Amino acid sequence: MTTLTAAPRALTVTRRHPLIGTEVRGIDLSRPLDGAELAQLEEIWMAHPMLVFPDQAITDAQQIAFARQFGELEVHPSLAHRSSAHPEIYRVSNVDESGEILPSQSSAWQYLELTWLWHSDSSFREVPSKGSILHGIEVPPEGGDTLFADLYAAYDALSDAAKARIEGLTVRHSHDAIIARSAGLNARQDKGSFTELPPVEHPLVRRHPVTGRRSLFLSPHTMAGVVGMDEQAGLALLDELTAHATQERFVYRHRWQKDDVIMWDNRCTMHAVMPYDSATRRRIMHRTTIVGDARPMV
Ligand code: SIN
Repeated sequence: MTTLTAAPRALTVTRRHPLIGTEVRGIDLSRPLDGAELAQLEEIWMAHPMLVFPDQAITDAQQIAFARQFGELEVHPSLAHRSSAHPEIYRVSNVDESGEILPSQSSAWQYLELTWLWHSDSSFREVPSKGSILHGIEVPPEGGDTLFADLYAAYDALSDAAKARIEGLTVRHSHDAIIARSAGLNARQDKGSFTELPPVEHPLVRRHPVTGRRSLFLSPHTMAGVVGMDEQAGLALLDELTAHATQERFVYRHRWQKDDVIMWDNRCTMHAVMPYDSATRRRIMHRTTIVGDARPMV
């Protein structure tokens, strides 16, 4: 592990994985950052796309205030998962607001279970999210870790021939594709209640607006095909790229501790929750999702 102290504040920045997953200590997320602190954190974030801030017992209001320093916040399309007190909080939780574990047959759980699939937040939007911040409020004793794949590194590691093969390709994404991935949701009349979102198209290879680096833009749970390709061939290509990008060497596994706050850049990573015993174990995570600046660039 490399530990370094970055000026001007004594932030301790420690890599947890050679590529992605970096711990930051010496910061209090419950209070506003000053200009220098914000600039310093932005710089660290652009160099380390997935940050872990341990021991941050923040309230939802403090999480929202912290997240707003990086941009406007999204309101999630799923009505069942919005906090009633703070619509900007997406409740990634198998426990409802009255404290009861969601029944496995409920549409709220069946939708949430889809976070176990690899995805990049809000890839179903015309302007996908810039980044997300997640607070671990209750964490299960085992399972429920979150995996993060470094999509810069996955792109860089492709052969020149593979890069040439995917250059200029465009992928269809949709929120409906998420629902279609759940046998449980599909089998029922009530598939949940969602804000309407039309399908969108995004480049398969995108350029990061700040770092200028290229990455794969993969979000398997919203990807519905490749424009101009036969459906099966397009999906097979996307599956092949997903298998490549989720090799262990590109993936950090976050093992949760209560009051970890994590922050990731959706423009160069994707993530998936590892299964846990959702019928008996409580997992309560609150997410704020930062609105993207612009459509993905090539
Ligand atoms: C998410 O998919 O944004 C949530 C990840 C998690 O619950 O760990």
